Amino acid sequence: MRPFCIFLITILFFLSFIKSIKPLQEEVHQNDQESDRVFNLPGQPRSPSLSHFSGYITVSRENGRALFYWFFEAQTEPSKRPLLLWLNGGPGCSSIGYGAAVEMGPLRVKRYGRGLEFNKYAWNKEANLLFLESPVGVGFSYTNTSSDLTKLDDGFAAEDAYSFLVNWLRRFPQYQAHDFYIAGESYAGHYVPQLAELVFERNKDRKNYPYINFKGFIVGNPETDDYYDWKGFAEYAWSHTVVSDQVYRLVNRVCDFKLLNWTNKCNNAMNIVFNQYNDIDIYNIYAPKCSLAQTSSFTYETHAKMSFLGRRRMYSGYDPCFSTYAEEYFNKPDVQKSLHALVGGKVNGKWQVCNNFVSNAYNVTVFSVLPIYSKLIKAGLRIWIYSGDTDGRVPAIGSRYCVEALGLPLKSHWQPWYHNKQVGGRFVEYQGLTMATVRGAGHLVPLNKPAEALVLINTFLMGQQLPTHK
Ligand SMILES: *[C@@H]1O[C@H](CO)[C@@H](O)[C@H](O)[C@H]1NC(C)=O
Ligand SMILES: *[C@@H]1O[C@H](CO)[C@@H](O)[C@H](O)[C@H]1NC(C)=O
Ligand SMILES: *[C@@H]1O[C@H](CO)[C@@H](O)[C@H](O)[C@H]1NC(C)=O
Repeated sequence: MRPFCIFLITILFFLSFIKSIKPLQEEVHQNDQESDRVFNLPGQPRSPSLSHFSGYITVSRENGRALFYWFFEAQTEPSKRPLLLWLNGGPGCSSIGYGAAVEMGPLRVKRYGRGLEFNKYAWNKEANLLFLESPVGVGFSYTNTSSDLTKLDDGFAAEDAYSFLVNWLRRFPQYQAHDFYIAGESYAGHYVPQLAELVFERNKDRKNYPYINFKGFIVGNPETDDYYDWKGFAEYAWSHTVVSDQVYRLVNRVCDFKLLNWTNKCNNAMNIVFNQYNDIDIYNIYAPKCSLAQTSSFTYETHAKMSFLGRRRMYSGYDPCFSTYAEEYFNKPDVQKSLHALVGGKVNGKWQVCNNFVSNAYNVTVFSVLPIYSKLIKAGLRIWIYSGDTDGRVPAIGSRYCVEALGLPLKSHWQPWYHNKQVGGRFVEYQGLTMATVRGAGHLVPLNKPAEALVLINTFLMGQQLPTHK
């Protein structure tokens, strides 16, 4: 009798011990989560109220690498909505400086960095929205091992982004089971499919990796395949009257975009094309260009001059100097403090919208990510490409060549989609992939056409078809 009692007590004790472990762990993460909650962000409008968090996730303990995020819970019913990760490109540009602060974030930086304004077309109407500054060296993300910065490439960025994701979901376990999507633009045309592939592969190995409920990705004006993208670049410059017939013929004669390294002759010809873009905004060819010096050495002295110029420059609600304003705002000490961007009590260098060092050091590892598309389309993931049709940098023409090259069976023909009784853009559906354009938008679609961009992301997340009737 007695040994049995001891046995029973031991078992009971053991069981209660096991039971106590799990809540304990969750509590620890819950605490981490709460300490990342953002209160009193300088300049944040009082209403509507937003639930948001920001801070660091360690991705390598050995080297001391940590990536910075800013997370906005969905404005309504966050527990029922998907989780959406947003990545900007560069390489070297910040998803907080672009995505959060001027594109689809709910708090956009006001002119001259004077606080924030609520964006009624924010994507966290539809999803729980996560902005990540990636790779290390970008924005507030950092490494304590400077040699890491000589190793940046697509593989490195994808590995760290994956570790980020796994560890972020540990800090926010309530989102572990949510449908998860990845989105991004420009050079994130590499980041997004590459991270998607990593998640897809590791999801097969449940012994060694946590399962992520990954459903698909969407990319905007994405760098996808160097050959098609550069071919499209040259054609766009010619067809939009940026360069002459002669220059276009020269490019076609001397450039072979299938080569990794361009010849000197091709470099010279392409420089003529680039130079024609110097005086306009290549990312939005019909918009005015920012006439401020867009460097990180922005000072208060230029303020007075700016307010005068600023009024003149405003053009149909679009201010081309947005990235300068973001630098103004995110370098304020009180902003950095309230966003938990201090490392060991201080800021890790000046915050920049785009980091040139990272951009130059970064090794663009692959020529094309189309093989990843083929693989993930076969796996049944939801995949969309969209393209602002006034972007000269990664133009819609190149993306169309990329999509054609996939050789997918057609599901519905090229046709207009509508918003507010107007053509929002065009779209075409293939088995496994949808491509949509946004009419009159540049490289940063959600900045130029916020309402249309919200329709687009909503339609993508719902797995529906874009509206084909007025
Ligand atoms: C990097 O170094 C700083 C200063 O020593 C320290 O506070 C921080 O925790 C380190 N970061 C990581 C990710 O280990
Ligand atoms: C391309 O150029 C780089 C730098 O000039 C050189 O190191 C590399 O070998 C070249 N690659 C090819 C394929 O020619
Ligand atoms: C860039 O990546 C390619 C492919 O991994 C590699 O062969 C090359 O040596 C790398 N270049 C640099 C400068 O690191």
